[in-house]
Amino acid sequence: MGDHVVGIAMNGVTGRMGYRQHLTRSVLAIRDAGGVLLPDGSRVIPEPVLVGRSEQKLREIAARHGIERWTTDLDAVLSDDSIEIYFDAQITHAREAAVRAAIAAGKHIYAEKPTAGTLDAALELAKLAQAAGVKNGVVQDKLFLPGLLKLRRLIDSGFFGTILSIRGEFGYWVFEGDWQEAQRPSWNYRAEEGGGIVLDMFPHWHYILEHLFAPVRSVTAHTATHIPDRWDEQGERYTATADDAAYGLFELEGGIVAQINSSWSVRVDRDELVEFQVDGTHGSAVAGLRECRVQHRSTTPKAVWDPDAVDPGQYRSQWDRVPDNEEFPNGFRAQWELFLKHVRADAPFPHDLLSGARGLQLAEAGLRSSQSGARVALDEITL
Ligand SMILES: NC(=O)c1ccc[n+]([C@@H]2O[C@H](COP(=O)([O-])OP(=O)(O)OC[C@H]3O[C@@H](n4cnc5c(N)ncnc54)[C@H](O)[C@@H]3O)[C@@H](O)[C@H]2O)c1
Repeated sequence: MGDHVVGIAMNGVTGRMGYRQHLTRSVLAIRDAGGVLLPDGSRVIPEPVLVGRSEQKLREIAARHGIERWTTDLDAVLSDDSIEIYFDAQITHAREAAVRAAIAAGKHIYAEKPTAGTLDAALELAKLAQAAGVKNGVVQDKLFLPGLLKLRRLIDSGFFGTILSIRGEFGYWVFEGDWQEAQRPSWNYRAEEGGGIVLDMFPHWHYILEHLFAPVRSVTAHTATHIPDRWDEQGERYTATADDAAYGLFELEGGIVAQINSSWSVRVDRDELVEFQVDGTHGSAVAGLRECRVQHRSTTPKAVWDPDAVDPGQYRSQWDRVPDNEEFPNGFRAQWELFLKHVRADAPFPHDLLSGARGLQLAEAGLRSSQSGARVALDEITL
């Protein structure tokens, strides 16, 4: 069987995600490994064409990685028949227009989350992609991380019995930018540029809950802008217009309750930057990005509330580590491989633009809940 080279226009490769995760650790790593094996024994080999705004940055990246083609002209690359896939990791508010143009040009679409700035726009993109008959996908990388893959293994084994609740804790301190450089871009703190932790993280929480547990049926959230003044990449002081913390309560179909805190204004006292505790009738687990620990009902200690005595509990020592039992590739790369198989061999790919739109639905509902103080139900959205 002959191998197929697939041209991919990659927009946003000068950014944090576009460069490190998508270009170098995924597409170039797959290309350099000889491509992805398809069921018929042939291979699909991705060939990136870099797209962006800065000629100089693109030229530098292309030279560093031996990439032949790069351009600042999106329209030109979209009218090029050798390009089959358009990938977008631009700043969120630049995504919709570019994806729309790529669908109109008949390209398959793969995009970072959130797939657009609003639910209406995200749903419209999903509908346009379906009408155009192009394959489409959204990055849902956390599902491919070792900790969550181990959690999935536990769920599939029936370890938990009936799952009752999930508690997630995500966050770390993002420096304000005055006396120590901020480790996130300033647009993250500007609502008018697609910033805000709800828009950033609720799409992640949505696909984790949806794919591992059950569809989300309602949300109650409280958001805050705890740090109102920040300093940007040029050292200029600016006012944060977007939320930097969100305290969310999600009710899932079937009654599971999930509570997830997201904050860029907390200091870490956890083993990992995100951790989810899942409690079930037969066992509990705590999963992070890499590790997962469990406690079965048969080894659950009998905790007794007695504030007058020193607690002999040593609770954290009473959990067992879930072994790897397999090699875990980079999560972004694993999802890219699935998407390439989806494009070329029609392999199943549940991470489509409609799933991406449901992530936006949760983010918008969360913001609405915070504004109104009310619990917001999520109606099913369809194409
Ligand atoms: N999957 C994940 O875990 C994950 C993590 C972080 C960010 N993201 C998503 O990836 C996207 C990019 O985030 P990032 O952290 O890499 O951002 P970044 O600021 O590092 O990169 C943004 C990219 O967009 C380009 N761009 C296009 N128009 C722009 C404009 N008007 N202003 C500024 N930049 C512009 C930049 O040149 C750059 O290539 C966002 O949509 C974000 O939500 C996903």
